[in-house]
Amino acid sequence: MKIAIFASGSGSNFQAIQDEIKKGRLDASVELLVCDRKEAFVIERALQAQVPVFSFNPKEYGSKEEFETEIAEELRKRDVELLVLAGYMRLIGPTLLRAYPGRIVNIHPSLLPSFPGKDAISQAISAGVKVTGVTVHFVDEGMDTGPIIAQEAVSIFQGEGAEDVAAKIHAVEHRLYPEVLGRFTKDVEFDATGRFTRMS
Ligand code: GRF
Repeated sequence: MKIAIFASGSGSNFQAIQDEIKKGRLDASVELLVCDRKEAFVIERALQAQVPVFSFNPKEYGSKEEFETEIAEELRKRDVELLVLAGYMRLIGPTLLRAYPGRIVNIHPSLLPSFPGKDAISQAISAGVKVTGVTVHFVDEGMDTGPIIAQEAVSIFQGEGAEDVAAKIHAVEHRLYPEVLGRFTKDVEFDATGRFTRMS
């Protein structure tokens, strides 16, 4: 399965996915990294892994439609089948949603629908919840609102700060995301509109 990873930051999830592919445990290839911050560390990781990079500065475009049209062209050139968002700090617009109907997934560091948007871990700590977690979901036009594919809980213990919880969440993400992507390589068919029709 040919995938593209979209990321804006450190890229530890990019790395986890790439590592699973390298070890032969995930039957996929990362055809492209799409990154909206030219200084993001994930770009180093992609270069290291010899994954092609499309990096861009959104401010240099007139609209989201303009840069998403360019991205869609890059994806099409490489026959990308699934878009994997991993810390891409930007809402996906109609251009990409239409180009990849039902074929865009995201990972979010909370048990959605709780704590969508930015700083989900700090939001959970401030709310005083004892359990938060990780969600993998399909992407729609909303902010962290698409249908949920998988979730895993993470406890927040007395006295733990955002960094402690983030470390536990990342550990879960790095295992869960490649595992969920693996299901797409095995249990899925596409219907006439390009949507996935079967998930275990
Ligand atoms: C992850 O916690 C993910 O859930 C969220 O952004 C973070 C990205 O981390 N969407 P990294 O760049 O993969 O290290």
